[in-house]
This record gives sequence, structure tokens and C-alpha cells, in this order.
Amino acid sequence: NEIYLNGLGDVRPELPTDLTVLERLAGERIAPAAYGYVAGAAGTESTARANREAFERRRLVPRMLRDVAVRDLSVRLFGQTLPVPVLLAPIGVLAIMHPDGDLAVARAAADLGVPLVVSTAASHSMEQAAEANAGGLRWFQLYWSSDRDVVLSFLTRASAAGYTTLVVTLDTHTLGWRPRDLDLAYLPFLRGIGVTNYFTDPAFQRAVGSPFDGDGADREAAIMRWAGTFGDPSLTWDDLDFLREHWDGPIVLKGIQHPDDARRAVDAGMDGVVVSNHGGRQVDGAIGSLDALPRVAAAVGDRITVLFDSGIRTGTDVIKALALGAKAVMLGRPYAYGLGLAGEAGVRHVIRCLLAELEIAMALVGVTCPAEITPELLASA
Ligand code: FNR
Repeated sequence: NEIYLNGLGDVRPELPTDLTVLERLAGERIAPAAYGYVAGAAGTESTARANREAFERRRLVPRMLRDVAVRDLSVRLFGQTLPVPVLLAPIGVLAIMHPDGDLAVARAAADLGVPLVVSTAASHSMEQAAEANAGGLRWFQLYWSSDRDVVLSFLTRASAAGYTTLVVTLDTHTLGWRPRDLDLAYLPFLRGIGVTNYFTDPAFQRAVGSPFDGDGADREAAIMRWAGTFGDPSLTWDDLDFLREHWDGPIVLKGIQHPDDARRAVDAGMDGVVVSNHGGRQVDGAIGSLDALPRVAAAVGDRITVLFDSGIRTGTDVIKALALGAKAVMLGRPYAYGLGLAGEAGVRHVIRCLLAELEIAMALVGVTCPAEITPELLASA
């Protein structure tokens, strides 16, 4: 309703309601290195483009006269009810966008009832983010360190701070080749910008020290220790038992693209997968994430929960992903741009635009709830 009132011309929204336009505005207003860190992707960025092309190739076929007067957008995931089939994807180092970083995002998420996935590389400690998210639903994203004490410490902290679900990111045991970061010599976390969640971790401090307290050779050595503990390229499917042993809640594997990997996730007793290619930031030339979704969804059926990210920019994108088998989606870059442009108000703006468009579009294509979103809504089905 507010949107229609704005349409009367008295109150102009301060930010564009089209999130692709908002992205362009972010490119104009946000400092190039910081914007480049968020917007950038691996290599020639062909996978980031493929993510969008996969959405644009698919078209919805609206249905008429279906009584859509009463709508309910809620979904059940892992025993919890989400008011909408949307979560905020984990994004590290948010403080490069705005000093309020994760706190602003956590407040907006709690306020609007959208669950939040807090990154291992968060700019505030996960305890601070949890406090800002009081009353909200929050999950924790793990970068699986090669140092098991660090992993255990993060899991213990997450559980104590009320994070209910563990999202384990598998596609980033090693950082992708990202020319924008390399050309601008700007890997923010290697400069000590906004990775408080690491620095406040006692096990991390023991293993790595404080890379940015020293200088010269000490500093370099600490940074190399950090690079060595950040991820663990030697992990295999057998290692998942370790997480199962030390995490009581649901475990979701993020970064799954191949149906066989999805089947292995089922066999390993995982609770869900996120079909994601990290927004094209890891493997240039990889398949568009939406193109990977149908085969993964078919491979696991109803045995575990399939989530999706990489390329969600509009409400109708959410419908397309649900039609191809996702139970819910994660929104990434757009909320980071909102944060960069207008802090907490910008994050709220982005989430509200996406959800308003989703609700309107569901009614207009003729569905009243996420369960009614099926492949028949797509022209290519
Ligand atoms: C990410 N992503 C990410 N994923 C993760 O598991 N842990 C993290 O710390 C981060 N950090 C991060 C930083 C930035 C700047 C971006 C853009 C992305 C990946 C994120 O969760 C999600 O998979 C992608 O953002 C999805 O792609 P789109 O929709 O944002 O293009």
C-alpha cells in the first residue's frame, strides 16, 4: 500500500525500487575498491553473468481465476516457520559497505522477520550480531578452518548465541581468482578491515595471533598463518561426521551444484543443501546456479531440503527458483548494496522491495502459497 501511496508522487522513495538499478547506483556512489569487492566475481565473471542469464532465459506463465485473495508466504524449514521463503545469504566483511555492518543487517532482518545467516568472516562478532538480531531467526555459516580447535570454538559460540542451523560453505576452502580484488590490491580482510568475528575468537587468537598488531615480518608471518588456517582443501565427505558430532542442530551444505554431490549429502545425513556458486566468485566458467538447481532437486527429492542462491534480484526470481525445486532462497549482493547506500534503512528498503514484489507477483501468476509454485508455472517446463 505504501508503494501505491508513493506513486501519488508526494513521497518519493529515496532509493530505486528496481534492485538492478540500485546496484548501478551503488557502483556510482560507493568507493571503487569496496564496491569492486562486493560486485566482483571470479575470472572473467562469466559465471556471475550466467547466474543472471539463467533467470532471464526462463519465463513465467500466469494463470487466471484462481482465487488468490488470501495469501500465505510462510514455509517450514527444519521445524521452524519462516514468514517468507527468503533468507539473507552470509556475506563477510560487511563493514566495508557501512560501519554498522552486520548489526544493521541483523536489526533489519529481525524487524522484517527474515532469517539471517551470519558469516564466519562477519565484521562484528557473532555475539554482537545475535544481540542486534534479538527475537529474529539466525543461522551460522561456517568456513571450515584447517584448525579443528578454531572450528570447535566457532560451533560452541554459535550454539551459545542462539544460532539454530549450521550452513557449511564447501566451495571456498580456497579463495577464487578474483581480478577486481587483485587489481585493486584490496582484499579487505587481509588488511584487517572488519573481520571482528575472527579476531574475537579465542582459538583463532591462539592459532594465528593478531595479524595487524605487529609490523614487518611478524605481520607477514601472522597473515600467512591465517591464510593457512582459513580453509581446509583436504576435506572429504568422511569429515562431515566431525561436524555431526559437534553440532546438535540441522546442517546444510552450501555450494552444491552436482546432483551426485547432493545425493552424497543425503547419504552423509545432512539436513539440506544450498545450490549456490557463491555468486560466481569461485569458479569462472561454472554453470549458472539456477541451471544446476533442477537436477539437484530431482536427485534428492523430499529427502532433504533444497535451498538456492546466486542471482536473485527480483520477486519473480524467487518464484522461478521455487518452481525449479528450491524450498527457499537466499538474497545476497542486493542487501549489501542497500547497506552501502543507506545503512540499516537501505537494507530494509531492499528486503521490503523484494518481498512486496514477490507477494504481488505470486498473486498475479495465480498462487496463494509457496507450495503452489510448481514447474508448470514456467514456460520451459
Ligand atoms: C559472499 N558470499 C559468502 N558466502 C559465504 O558462505 N560466506 C561468506 O562470508 C560470504 N561472503 C561473501 C561476500 C560478498 C561480498 C559476496 C558478494 C558474497 C556468497 C553469498 O553467500 C551468496 O552465495 C552469493 O552472494 C549469491 O550470489 P548473488 O545473488 O549475491 O549474486
